[in-house]
Amino acid sequence: MALLPILEFPDPRLRTKAAPVEPADLATPAFQTLLDDMFQTMYEAPGIGLAASQVDVHKRFMVIDVTEDRSRPLVFVNPVINARDGEQVYQEGCLSVPGIYADVTRSDTITVEALDRHGQPFSLETDGVLAVCVQHEMDHLDGKLFVDYLSPLKREMVRKKLLKAKRAA
Ligand code: NI
Repeated sequence: MALLPILEFPDPRLRTKAAPVEPADLATPAFQTLLDDMFQTMYEAPGIGLAASQVDVHKRFMVIDVTEDRSRPLVFVNPVINARDGEQVYQEGCLSVPGIYADVTRSDTITVEALDRHGQPFSLETDGVLAVCVQHEMDHLDGKLFVDYLSPLKREMVRKKLLKAKRAA
């Protein structure tokens, strides 16, 4: 396995709209290796979700594990949310926006349909942090970041802070 470089805001590649994964892609060893590398990259960071877009692969899939003991690794390929209920506010962060945390309002309960890493369809109804994470990672696949929910002024402050941090590094 290998650690993958994670794109960071305001890298314009994070704004790419990802294309659907083709069934033939799923069957390749390269795809399975990429998923393993994404899990390793996410766990090492550490984070609870990583979308393919963040590692410069512009296909619609993501990995998530919101457990403390890394016991529930989930893969979502071509995810679609087909039911939503309620609202929740959660303080989000993102591996592509390091060191920045902000409250974002999202749906409380969602039902998401996707394929797993072996191409098997599944449906998951969930709430709480897992629901937040699914919505956050799916935004990445559409080129959207959690800082887009902030005011333009606040987003500009975040952009300057990260560019400054990068220059200092
Ligand atoms: Ni993120």
